[in-house]
Amino acid sequence: MWFLLLLLYTAHIEAVIAQSTSKNRLILKSGSNPCEGYIEIYHEGEWGHVGEKYWTENTDKVVCRSTHCGEPVKNSTAEIASRPDESVLLNDVSCTGNEDHLWKCIHPGFKVSTQRTGTQRKIKCSNNITLSLDGFKCAGAVKYSTDGGQNDSGYFCGETGWGQKEANLLCKNRNCGTSKDILNDWMVWEKFPQSKKMMINCSDLQKTDNLWQCVTGESRSCKKPASVICTGHDKLRLKGNASNVCSGRLEKEENGKWNPVKTINTNPDDWCKQMHCGTKVSHSEDDNGTQLTCSDNVTVLLMDGNKRSNCYGEVHIQRNGKSQAVCGTALTWTEKDAEVVCRELNCGSVSFK
Ligand SMILES: *[C@@H]1O[C@H](CO)[C@@H](O)[C@H](O)[C@H]1NC(C)=O
Ligand SMILES: *[C@@H]1O[C@H](CO)[C@@H](O)[C@H](O)[C@H]1NC(C)=O
Ligand SMILES: *[C@@H]1O[C@H](CO)[C@@H](O)[C@H](O)[C@H]1NC(C)=O
Ligand SMILES: *[C@@H]1O[C@H](CO)[C@@H](O)[C@H](O)[C@H]1NC(C)=O
Ligand SMILES: *[C@@H]1O[C@H](CO)[C@@H](O)[C@H](O)[C@H]1NC(C)=O
Ligand SMILES: *[C@@H]1O[C@H](CO)[C@@H](O)[C@H](O)[C@H]1NC(C)=O
Ligand SMILES: *[C@@H]1O[C@H](CO)[C@@H](O)[C@H](O)[C@H]1NC(C)=O
Repeated sequence: MWFLLLLLYTAHIEAVIAQSTSKNRLILKSGSNPCEGYIEIYHEGEWGHVGEKYWTENTDKVVCRSTHCGEPVKNSTAEIASRPDESVLLNDVSCTGNEDHLWKCIHPGFKVSTQRTGTQRKIKCSNNITLSLDGFKCAGAVKYSTDGGQNDSGYFCGETGWGQKEANLLCKNRNCGTSKDILNDWMVWEKFPQSKKMMINCSDLQKTDNLWQCVTGESRSCKKPASVICTGHDKLRLKGNASNVCSGRLEKEENGKWNPVKTINTNPDDWCKQMHCGTKVSHSEDDNGTQLTCSDNVTVLLMDGNKRSNCYGEVHIQRNGKSQAVCGTALTWTEKDAEVVCRELNCGSVSFK
């Protein structure tokens, strides 16, 4: 009799859970990283916390997995006093450690706990998430690292869930202002196809402080990374001798015109890096603007087969003596780009053959 009752009870819970899985969220808050902090759970329009009853190391494992945060860090979980203004949404959770989500563990149902005040868990998982942009400091495709930025781990998918609000948060966290433009097919992201891609949805997270909290899972079919140009992104170039585009007078694009930059108040190394020119070698300022030479020696040239040609051929970039073809597809390489190359090489206007 007891057994049957238990079975019916669990079966009932399972049915309810299957229905509501997509609406539940779990995040870690107030840590130095989105993979540490106290646990908050979202269910049917409400945020609350998870009670500690029956908590084990298996529960830690499920929490880290559910937040895409790796494995629990040994001996780092702690009991903290819970805030009296928050309700206990879930309690008496009993996990085997293999569940994908906390609400898939055995529990009596949401809001069933009678616990009013008490303690909750603070947890630390192994991932140290940093978000950055593939491209420039303040423009590019959103990529993430799980080891504090040493190695890239993957990208955010830009097909769904990526909008103005999310892009603004990313720009702000990188000290890049706000989002100026969400990009479509701006560049070919070489490493994107074989990288991990994370889907995001921030819609239930009104006050999210890190986009990692919006991650809902991995996508294998995503074709487009989330990308952005922030207001803090300057379009720069060095105007000088065409035999090296990494040395010359610094100019910045403003409203479609290239104007000299009078004073650099950022580290000149950052400007060289932003132009993919290495690091600063020399820098001087006078009434006419700023003269900057960076460590890399980069030439844009045209190749006809194996031979360098004057005004016809495939666009190559020669960096410190090593030549590489510029990757372009019908989507990203436009006549406008071709015009720029022809003009910069003193080759007149474009004619496609
Ligand atoms: C994001 O989540 C909200 C609420 O949970 C849902 O209504 C919406 O369909 C989701 N959006 C996507 C693109 O999955
Ligand atoms: C974790 O804590 C237990 C008990 O306090 C202790 O015996 C063990 O050595 C600790 N492990 C680590 C890796 O610090
Ligand atoms: C996480 O990475 C950041 C940036 O690399 C580093 O400063 C921080 O110490 C790391 N945190 C941990 C817990 O390893
Ligand atoms: C991560 O980066 C470190 C040093 O930056 C390197 O030694 C290590 O091999 C990298 N790990 C992976 C999995 O690529
Ligand atoms: C550009 O630089 C090259 C190599 O340093 C030099 O031979 C050439 O005369 C320069 N052209 C101009 C216009 O200064
Ligand atoms: C600034 O440009 C003007 C006009 O091209 C030139 O006569 C002057 O010598 C330049 N000043 C400096 C400091 O290079
Ligand atoms: C840069 O490289 C080009 C071609 O390899 C060469 O002609 C030029 O002299 C180099 N310039 C400098 C400043 O090293």
